[in-house]
Amino acid sequence: EGADGIALGKFLAQSGYSTFDNGFVNTASCKSAITYIDGNAGILRYRGYPIEQLAEKSTFIEVSYLLIHGELPTPEQLAEFTAKIQRHTLLHEDLKLFFNGFPRNAHPMPVVSSAVNALSAYYPDSLDHNDPAQVELSTIRLLAKFPTICAYAYKKSVGQPMLYPDNSLSLVENFLRMTFGFPAEPYEVDPEIVKALDMLLILHADHEQNCSTSTVRLVGSSNANLFTSISGGINALWGPLHGGANQAVLEMLDDIKASGGDTTAFMNKVKNKEDGVKLMGFGHRVYKNYDPRAAIVKQTADRIFELLGVSDELLDIAKGLEDVALHDDYFIERKLYPNVDFYTGLIYRAMGFPTRMFTVLFALGRLPGWIAHWREMHEDPTTKIGRPQQIYTGSTARDYPGA
Ligand code: ACO
Repeated sequence: EGADGIALGKFLAQSGYSTFDNGFVNTASCKSAITYIDGNAGILRYRGYPIEQLAEKSTFIEVSYLLIHGELPTPEQLAEFTAKIQRHTLLHEDLKLFFNGFPRNAHPMPVVSSAVNALSAYYPDSLDHNDPAQVELSTIRLLAKFPTICAYAYKKSVGQPMLYPDNSLSLVENFLRMTFGFPAEPYEVDPEIVKALDMLLILHADHEQNCSTSTVRLVGSSNANLFTSISGGINALWGPLHGGANQAVLEMLDDIKASGGDTTAFMNKVKNKEDGVKLMGFGHRVYKNYDPRAAIVKQTADRIFELLGVSDELLDIAKGLEDVALHDDYFIERKLYPNVDFYTGLIYRAMGFPTRMFTVLFALGRLPGWIAHWREMHEDPTTKIGRPQQIYTGSTARDYPGA
């Protein structure tokens, strides 16, 4: 009964049956019209548009609109959306003090997730998720303030003064200026770098029911507000098996370089599963063919390195590892290919970001996807609170001593 399976699932649960699906490899948690992936064919589309076309022709703001509203904006809609975001970039002065409460060496991810959660305290009107105008305002506030929050987390970690946003700049330029600029000093950045970072954000903007997006949906399914739900997603993203992989890749490459650059010895360790060592930035739950985002990132890496005139030995090590993996039975049999994180860290590093900021950059890109999923879930009247079953493996009933 019920093509959506809800009635059947309810019937089975009430009859005492559960399905054990470790890691949800085979269980859909929702219906969604946002992102289409065919992992075997290496296809990724946002709202039907191929990622390759969006990466080449669109902008991060336009893609954000597309993901959240379902259609590409008209020029007027895009101008209005952009202007609204530019108007909301400032953080409340008290929220700025919040950054001072963290230790200087704090990783920026918990700082960023805490600040996003704190937005619910500064904007209690965000708690009214039934009012579409309010949801739109929370969306704009979050898209606008998130780059400021990310830049402030960076400034805090390097002990430099925070810069107010300059709303005459584009989202990416503003973010770069707040991150790398200094008060009363002009900040200039090569438009090619701005374009490349904008494109990387597009590549990260959504990836259907990955760990962090599923977290946003699960938290949001209790009717928790947008800021709090997305703060949960940021925490899920931090893990090295998810968005934290871009930092882990660079650390892995640094370790290989430090130990003399012997990729064969490292690959043998991976294949023998010594100490649980993995080739970070390789493998994906869904892609069993080349990750289409990784293909674009690899080309960009070459372009950025040429543009900046830098040569990074780590890029050669990364290419060497990929070359070995593409011809090695261990990786071929398991269908392990580079994922989006394999080359991104090298580009971020060439742009001047420290390793600890890499996952923050992923979060910056993924934000519109999280928002789109939170909104899609709330707009669906059939949404139920997420509440998985378990297979109980603990003690059977026993008496408390003396009872
Ligand atoms: N290096 C070496 N072996 C690997 C790797 C890897 N990166 N990834 C998977 N394998 C092996 C597993 O050990 C397993 O081997 P087995 O069959 O002998 O037991 C087999 O390939 C299947 O892997 P699973 O772990 O079952 O695959 P799963 O879908 O659960 O995990 C994941 C996917 C988490 C991405 C995994 O490939 C991984 O840990 N990769 C490294 C971390 C990483 O790059 N994460 C970023 C993912 S993309 C993103 O979040 C944007």
